[in-house]
Amino acid sequence: MDYQFSEALAGMHGTATREIYRVLSRPGIISLAGGSPAHDCLPYRQIEEIAAELFADHDLMTKGYRYGTTEGFPELRELVLGLAASFGINISGMDTGNAIITSGGGQSIDLILKTFVNRGDTVLAENPTYQGFLQTAQSYGAVIAGVDAGEDGLIIQDLEEKILRHKPKLLYVVPTFSNPTGKTYSAANRKAIVELALRYGVMVAEDDPYSRLRISGEAVPPLKVFDTNNTCVVYISSFSKVVSPGIRLGFSIGPAEVIRKMTIAKQGVDLSSSNISQLLIQKYLERGYYYPNIEKSLPIYRERKGSMFEALGKYFPEEFSHTDPDGGIFIWGEFRTPIDTAAMFSEALKRNVVYIEGRSFFADGRGRSSLRLNFSNETPENIDKAVRILGELSKMTIAACEERETPAP
Ligand SMILES: Cc1ncc(COP(=O)(O)O)c(C=O)c1O
Repeated sequence: MDYQFSEALAGMHGTATREIYRVLSRPGIISLAGGSPAHDCLPYRQIEEIAAELFADHDLMTKGYRYGTTEGFPELRELVLGLAASFGINISGMDTGNAIITSGGGQSIDLILKTFVNRGDTVLAENPTYQGFLQTAQSYGAVIAGVDAGEDGLIIQDLEEKILRHKPKLLYVVPTFSNPTGKTYSAANRKAIVELALRYGVMVAEDDPYSRLRISGEAVPPLKVFDTNNTCVVYISSFSKVVSPGIRLGFSIGPAEVIRKMTIAKQGVDLSSSNISQLLIQKYLERGYYYPNIEKSLPIYRERKGSMFEALGKYFPEEFSHTDPDGGIFIWGEFRTPIDTAAMFSEALKRNVVYIEGRSFFADGRGRSSLRLNFSNETPENIDKAVRILGELSKMTIAACEERETPAP
């Protein structure tokens, strides 16, 4: 049949990360590609304990088995406001109308785009950025303009110039342990971003799934902290990286008017996020499991990042440089020789190693010689092995590239 697919998906391919999940079940594959938390850090025991009690409590489960309100259980919305307060966000003057429970951070991104973006509108995002955002924004017909970033965060001059040129409604940022670079914006940079957003009336979506996974350095307050009157920042977070991605829950906090619109946008999508997942997370937070489990996971992340660092130093060519994040789960690297990391990927796959090539994170086709490496999800031994394989492969690829470019005598 000649399927008449929508324009929204025309020309779109699956994101590299999602597509790679298809090969992960292959025996022997070592994945430096995905964005999963360490499997050893998942709170199996606590979830098992909560689930056993929950499913035996038929009164409570009448709530679990029914349809729920689109914005989520009020008890859980109270709890996520409390969580946001523990991250430093000032919630005085906020109530449950300022919070929505979503089916993960990915859905919050979808809802905020649906709430603000008309086909042809420009949205701004750091270059490079989370490919799930790029994919969803494209599906709404948004034009994506990249804002350049330095060590401290967005280049404020570039941001202002892009705001004046494109008149965007929305800026999307991952300011703490960014996906894909692992970088963190300074507090001064966050303040300057909010000042510009307020001056020019730009809504900011602050996506923050990783800030709790800090393994070194000083904590930086969420960008939302600088939005003192709760007007221009929607704060997005998720339980995927700090409890379990399979539970599929996240939340957003922001101005009541925006949260209400996001709720209306969600009604037609999934009616509500899973009630059973909401009850699990509600009990998990009420029992105080959230922070102790994160604390327990940090030494594992520290060790794995250390292994990746050591291996990159040992095995990678000197034409390669990479970020040194204080947390999160990704390292971003770039080759000075213009090799194509997408072409190198098929060779890596033959050797049973996967990573994400850099171009997937740019809206404008840049990133050809970059790649993203995940360090959370494999043992130190596997990380060492995979980085050694990639190091050898990249040296071969660079040599072949230089040979092609050397003029014949
Ligand atoms: C920056 C960022 N935002 C959102 C998501 C989606 O996460 P969730 O599982 O909460 O939908 C991810 C997942 O990797 C991410 O890295």
